[in-house]
Amino acid sequence: MAKIQVILGSTRQGRSGDKVAAWVMKELANIPGAEYELLDLRDYPLPFFDEPVSPGSKPGEYTHEEAKRWSEKIKEGAGYIIVTPEYNHGYPAVLKNALDYLYVEWQNKPVGFVSYGGAAAGARSAEQLTQVVRELHMIAVRDAVLIPSIWAAFDASGALAGVEGHLKSLKAMVAGMMKFM
Ligand SMILES: Cc1cc2nc3c(=O)[nH]c(=O)nc-3n(C[C@H](O)[C@H](O)[C@H](O)COP(=O)(O)O)c2cc1C
Repeated sequence: MAKIQVILGSTRQGRSGDKVAAWVMKELANIPGAEYELLDLRDYPLPFFDEPVSPGSKPGEYTHEEAKRWSEKIKEGAGYIIVTPEYNHGYPAVLKNALDYLYVEWQNKPVGFVSYGGAAAGARSAEQLTQVVRELHMIAVRDAVLIPSIWAAFDASGALAGVEGHLKSLKAMVAGMMKFM
């Protein structure tokens, strides 16, 4: 079965991304048609981009062991859901770095975004990422999950405020992705 990989794009200590990714994985388990795997960038501690050539000009040739491992893992995905916070109206550097490391591995595969942040729900981060993934020849699907006021979004039991709307968006996003898988 085709695999959708969920990339958790924040790595800082005390991150809210854990709760968001846990909710995404819980809900994906009920969406048939694909298998799902969570990829935590903490488990792929790539140095700041440091390859001698651009991944686009010598596809798949990496000098760093961590880059080779990241490449092999990303090759397994038929599509990606990127979970991203908004940092200073943009995406986290660690996430952009992980995207920059590869090229052919991403190509011609669909991608959807789950963003979170303050009042703007991380939408600016998700929108900026659509520009980045276009250069990677990915297909950014229309629907996205945008979670506002992240510090108040989950209660103590892990329940998400406004869950019905978010779930509808998640399902629409995955359906959009599956058209290209
Ligand atoms: C460096 C930094 C910059 C931030 N900038 C914004 C911002 O521009 N807009 C916003 O809505 N939230 C912003 N926030 C708040 C984050 O969205 C919020 O802290 C969120 O929990 C960050 O994700 P994380 O906890 O998974 O790292 C910022 C947080 C950090 C740490």
